[in-house]
Amino acid sequence: MNEELLDVVVRKRELQGDGVVVLDLSRRDGAALPVFDAGAHIDIHLGQGLVRQYSLCGNPADPSVYRLGVLKDPASRGGSISVHDTLLEGCELKISAPRNLFPLATQARHSILLGGGIGVTPMIAMAYALHQAGKSFELHYCGRERSRSAFLDELACAPFAANVSTHFDNEGPGQALDLAKVLGKGEDGVHMYTCGPGGFMDWVIEGARRQGYAETHIHKEYFQVEVDGSGAGFEVVAARSGKTVQVAEGQSILAALAQVGIKIEISCEQGVCGTCLCDVLEGEPDHRDVYLTDDEKAGNDQILVCCSRAKSKKLVLDI
Ligand code: FES
Repeated sequence: MNEELLDVVVRKRELQGDGVVVLDLSRRDGAALPVFDAGAHIDIHLGQGLVRQYSLCGNPADPSVYRLGVLKDPASRGGSISVHDTLLEGCELKISAPRNLFPLATQARHSILLGGGIGVTPMIAMAYALHQAGKSFELHYCGRERSRSAFLDELACAPFAANVSTHFDNEGPGQALDLAKVLGKGEDGVHMYTCGPGGFMDWVIEGARRQGYAETHIHKEYFQVEVDGSGAGFEVVAARSGKTVQVAEGQSILAALAQVGIKIEISCEQGVCGTCLCDVLEGEPDHRDVYLTDDEKAGNDQILVCCSRAKSKKLVLDI
């Protein structure tokens, strides 16, 4: 994926809650940035090949700034620590244009936004967009403790503050999220959106299914995924390169291809971003990503080689 990158500067940087840095990025000359839709993310190029995706959490109607919130993750593979340590006010960096893998359903009659921890970021942009469009919605922000949570001041002062509810683990049962009540019975025209830690999202998604939501009305964005690399070895044929490689147990296709000199462009290495997508010509993938839809996975003609494996003994890829 060769795309033109944008040069931006860190215009404002603020530490909020416990370990969240909120960054405002803009062009040095203040010119407008490319328009983004709520739910979009950008790639941040952090140097030395490190690229990470972060959701835009500002107001999509404001073209002068891209706002991000980044939680410092102690288990970081370099991304969030680099953001915290190097992206200081005035710092210049390169970013991609916004891409949206988590769009709002424009036909929704009512939208329920459920953000867990730092997963609230895309929900904030969605709330701005829904409010400006005069659409019906509610935003539920769940976290461990109020004092550790970012964006509370912004949400309290936002023009859609009346649509926001907060739910903190340490504040007693009265304000806890009653998921079944909030979701209702999965009525037609009601769409739900969730982003947050895996356990939170699994709980919300299962809850929505139990309440009768159609899969098309459950919208989710994962920002962190445990990659399961287990499973027997298999063979990968790179058809265009004319090379064959054995992928060992616990090894990624990506790593095996690198051993024979085939470099695939990557970013998240967690099956989230879609950068490493390759076409499958033969064989059956064992999809372990959260990027492809269930229908795309069932098609078995694409694979994300940073995390997925093979059910068949051989995979032939169009690379
Ligand atoms: S690098 Fe992001 S899905 Fe593979």
